[in-house]
Amino acid sequence: MWKPHDKAILPVPDQGEEGVNAATPFLSVRVPFAVDPRWALVEAGFDHNCEPGIESIFTVANGYVGTRGSLDERAGPSSPVTYLAGVFTGTGGAGGVLKLAELPDWTHLRVLVEGVPLSLETGTTLDHRRILDLQHGVLFRQWRHQDDRGRVTALTYARAVCLHDRHLLLQSVTVTPENYEGDITIQSATSNPQSEIHWSSELKGNAALLLGQTDRGTTIAMASHSRLEHEKGLESVGNGSGEACAEQWVWRAQRGAAARFDRSVVVYSSREVRDPAEAATGHVRRAAETGLAANLLRHAQAWEERCCASEVEVVGDETAQRALRFAVYHLNSAVNPQDERVSIGARALSGPTYKGHVFWDTEIYLLPFYTFTDPAAARSLLQYRFHTLPAARDRARRLGYQGALYAWESADTGADVTPETVRAPDGRVVQVLTGIQEHHISADIAYAVWQYWQATADEEFFLTAGADILIETARFWATRGRVEPDGRYHIRTVIGPDEYHESVDDNAYTNVMAQWNLERAADTVDWLRSHRADVWPIISERVRVTPDEPDSWRRTAALMVTGFDRATNLFEQFAGFFDLEELDLQPYRPMSVPIDVTIGRERTQRAQVVKQADVVALSALFWERFPVAVHEANVRYYAPRTAHGSSLSPALHAVVSARLGEADLAAQYFYDAAAIDLAHHGGKSAGGVHIATLGGLWQAAVFGMGGIRLREEGLVVAPHLPSNWDRLSFPLQWRGRRISVTIDREPGQVTVDFRSGEPMTIELSQGSMQRITSHHRYVAHRVGPGWSAWQESKR
Ligand code: BGC
Repeated sequence: MWKPHDKAILPVPDQGEEGVNAATPFLSVRVPFAVDPRWALVEAGFDHNCEPGIESIFTVANGYVGTRGSLDERAGPSSPVTYLAGVFTGTGGAGGVLKLAELPDWTHLRVLVEGVPLSLETGTTLDHRRILDLQHGVLFRQWRHQDDRGRVTALTYARAVCLHDRHLLLQSVTVTPENYEGDITIQSATSNPQSEIHWSSELKGNAALLLGQTDRGTTIAMASHSRLEHEKGLESVGNGSGEACAEQWVWRAQRGAAARFDRSVVVYSSREVRDPAEAATGHVRRAAETGLAANLLRHAQAWEERCCASEVEVVGDETAQRALRFAVYHLNSAVNPQDERVSIGARALSGPTYKGHVFWDTEIYLLPFYTFTDPAAARSLLQYRFHTLPAARDRARRLGYQGALYAWESADTGADVTPETVRAPDGRVVQVLTGIQEHHISADIAYAVWQYWQATADEEFFLTAGADILIETARFWATRGRVEPDGRYHIRTVIGPDEYHESVDDNAYTNVMAQWNLERAADTVDWLRSHRADVWPIISERVRVTPDEPDSWRRTAALMVTGFDRATNLFEQFAGFFDLEELDLQPYRPMSVPIDVTIGRERTQRAQVVKQADVVALSALFWERFPVAVHEANVRYYAPRTAHGSSLSPALHAVVSARLGEADLAAQYFYDAAAIDLAHHGGKSAGGVHIATLGGLWQAAVFGMGGIRLREEGLVVAPHLPSNWDRLSFPLQWRGRRISVTIDREPGQVTVDFRSGEPMTIELSQGSMQRITSHHRYVAHRVGPGWSAWQESKR
C-alpha cells in the first residue's frame, strides 16, 4: 500500500522562505506574483517512462480548453494535446467512436543555438524542473542545458490557460546564453495533430490563424500572436510561413543577455460565435495590446480568488494537504460555468482515456464540490443534463420505458456513446454491457439535482429544469421494473457500480437510488402544488404529470426490493450475491493489477469480489436514511470484499470510514485515492487525471473528516480528524450564505466563521443546534463524547 510519506509523491521544492521566485530567474518572465512552495507541484528531471502521466497532471485548463503539460520542444514520449470542451469528432453508437477533438498544438516551441535544437535528449541537462503553481494556475518550467561544446543556455517557461478570459492561452520563454555569444533561433509553430480535422492556416497581419472543421460541423479557429524582446529591442513579427503557422526568430545574443518570447493564442469555435475566425483574430490583437504579463496577472488573480473560495487546508499532514490542493486545482480547471451545454469527462480535459465521455462520475463524485464552493458551476453542469433530457427520453422510449434514461456515456447530444466492445487486458475482445445495463445513472443525476436544490435553494433552476429531471427519471424507474408475484417491485438485468457482475437482478444500489428517486419526484410535485401553485400548471403541462402519478410513484417506492435484511442489517448487493464463492482478497493486496486480470473475468464474476464501492456508496450518499448500525454492518461486510478496481472506490470508503469514527482508516483510503494521480510520478495518469477521484478526495475531507451533512434548516458538523491532522479548514456556500469551518484537534474545537448571508442553523453531532448570523464567529469545544454550547463573538 502507498504510504503517506512515500517519496514517490512529487516533492515540494526546497526554495527557502521567500518562495520559488526568490530562488529562480522567474522574474525575467516578469511574473508579477510569488510562487509559494506550499502550492507548488514540482517534477524535477525528465524520465521517458513517466512523461505521459506527468503531462496529464501538469495540464493547464479552464473548463473551456485544456492543454496537457507536454514539453514545449517535445521529446520521444510527448503527447501534446489540447482539447476544447464539447467539441467531438466521429460518431457514437454501433461501431463508431466519438471522442473529444484534438486541437493544434499551440505550445510547440524550439530553441536552437547556432542552428542546433536544444533537447532534453541531447547534451547535458544541468537542471530541469516543471513547477505547477496550484494557487495561480500557471505552469512554469526551468531548464539549464549544456551542449557538447560546453555552451550553457538557461530557459524559463510559463504557460497558462486563462481563467479571467477563457479563450486566451499564454506561453512565454526567456532564453539566456550563460557563457557564450552566439546565434539563437526560436521556432514556434501551431502544429496540426494527426486527427480527422483538416486545418488550414494563414497569416493575418501579425496574427497567425488556423481554421478547422470537425466532421460534426463545428468550426474551430485558433489565432496566435507572438513577439520577441531582446537586448536590441522588440520584434513583433517573426519570419513566418503559412505552413502550420510556423514562425522563426533569429538574433545574435550576447553572453548573459536574456531574450523573452511571448505567445498569446485565442480559441473560438462555432459553438459560441458565428464567425470564429473573426472573433479569434480580433480577440488576439486586443490581448497582444494588453500584453502577456498583464494578462498573466489577471489570470492569476482570478485563479487565486477561485482558490480562496474552494481550498481545503490541512495542518499536520503535508501529504494530505498537497493532495487536496492538487485536487482542488484540477476541479477548478475542469469546469466552465459559462457553458451549460458541456459537462466534465471522466479525465476532464487532461487526456484521451474515455474520450471525453461524461459518466455518473460528474453527478456523484464532482457535483458536491461545485455545489458547495461554486454553485454557478454546479448549475451549469446540471443544465447540461437538462439540455440532454430529450436524448434521455428518447433512449427510454426506444427501450420500451417511459420517462428518461440517461446515457451511461454521454457526449455532445446526450445520446449514449458507450463503446460496444473493448479489448480486455488479455487481448480478448469483450462485449461492453454498461451502455445497455448500467441504468443507475438516471437516479444519480436526480440525486445531484436534489442535493443542489437543497444546498442552494435555487428556485429558478428547480422550476425550469430540476423538477423536469426529477419527474422524468422517476417515471423511468416506475416502468423499468415491475411488481412480481411476490408482491414486490423488482428491477432485473442491470449493472450496479460493481461492474464485475453483469446482468444482475435487484442491485441494492440501483434499487435504493430508484426508490429514493421515486419518493423525491413525488415530493417535488407536492412541493410545487403547495408552494408554487402559480407555476405548477405550467410545469405539469410541460411534463404531463397525471393526477395519480405521484401516489403511484410512492407505492412503487414502498414495494421496491432493496435486498435489506433486518436480521443482519445487511444489504445483499444483488439477488444471489451471498451465494457466490467467498474469496479472501488479502493475499492479493496491494493490487497493482486489477483482480479480474489476476484471477480472470469468469472467476471474478462467480465470486463475492466487488469492483468498487457499491453498497458502501449507499452509505456515503444516504447517511441519514439508515441507522449507523446498518452502515457499520455493511462496511464491515463489503470492505474486505472490495478490490478497488476503479479509482472511484477508495475515496467513498474514506467518507464512510470517517463518519463511522474510523478516521485513521479513512486517512489510509484517502492516501490510496491521492496516490492514483500523484504517486509514482503520474504513473497511472497517462490517459488523464482521475477527476472523479479528485472530487472524492474533497468529499472525503469535507463530508468524511469534516463530517458535513445537509439538513433542511442548515448544516451539521460531525468531525472526525485522523490522528495526524491537527487542523482541517474549508469554506462552504449554503443557500447564498458563505461560511468557513475550522476543526482543531487540540483542544477539540469547531469554529464556524459566518461571512455573509441570512441567518441559518448549524448543528454539532450530539451537540447543540445554533442559529448563526453573519459577521459572527461561533466556537464549540469537545466535552467528553459531546460538545459544549456554542460561544458567539463578533468577527
Ligand atoms: C468505473 C465507473 C466509472 C468509469 C469512468 C469505470 O472503471 O467502474 O464507475 O464511471 O470508470 O470513470
